[in-house]
Formats: sequence, structure tokens, C-alpha cells
Amino acid sequence: MVALLKRIYKCNVCGNIVEVVHEGKGQLVCCGQSMQLLEEKTAEPGKEKHAPVLEVSGDTVVVKVGSVQHPMEEGHYIEWIEVSTDGEAYRKYLKPGDKPEASFKLKAEKLTARAYCNMHGLWRSP
Ligand SMILES: [Fe+2]
Repeated sequence: MVALLKRIYKCNVCGNIVEVVHEGKGQLVCCGQSMQLLEEKTAEPGKEKHAPVLEVSGDTVVVKVGSVQHPMEEGHYIEWIEVSTDGEAYRKYLKPGDKPEASFKLKAEKLTARAYCNMHGLWRSP
């Protein structure tokens, strides 16, 4: 089974971000224009500050962003970290000053993590 990764769209006018919990055929529109589907990036050249890294120990999963710690400053920070399995999804919201990591209690074989940077968009664990 594939992890439960829902599509996330952003309005480039007002900044609204929405997650599609049930797919329909319609086009998502905000502020009078189509919303942009956020691409899940997985790799970046140079320092890997965005791709989430999973550390599993028993039933505890720690997700760090990234292999080089991402900044958590007022204007540039990781807004949330999510971990998904084939039937569950958990998200932790962060704020500037927090550590760019999240801990979850769950037991699953196949896990995928995603993180959202307010400047650099959506990232998925490789
Ligand atoms: Fe960033």
C-alpha cells in the first residue's frame, strides 16, 4: 500500500493553503484564479535543509528537517511536519523558535514524511 499523501494547493494571491481530503473533478479556485498544486520536492543540491529525515525507534518516529537543520526564524521556518502511512496521517504544527522536528507515536512499516517551509514549499522524504 502507498502512503496516504493528499494533494495540497496554494493560492498565490492571498496565501491560503488547502489539503484535498477527498478528490473531486473540479478545479480549486481562490481569489478568482486557479490554485497552484504544490509539488513535493525530494532533493536539493548542496545542503539538504528541507527533505525530511525519518528516525524510527520502536513505536516512536522522529522526523527532522532536514539532514542539515532548517532555520526556524520569523520570516523563514518549517510550518508543519507530517508523517503518513497507508491509512493514517499525523501532522505537527511548528512556530519560529521551535526545533524543526516532530515526534510521533505509531507503528507502521512504510512511512512517508512531508514538511512545509513557508519560503521553499513542500518537501517529501526520499
Ligand atoms: Fe526553507
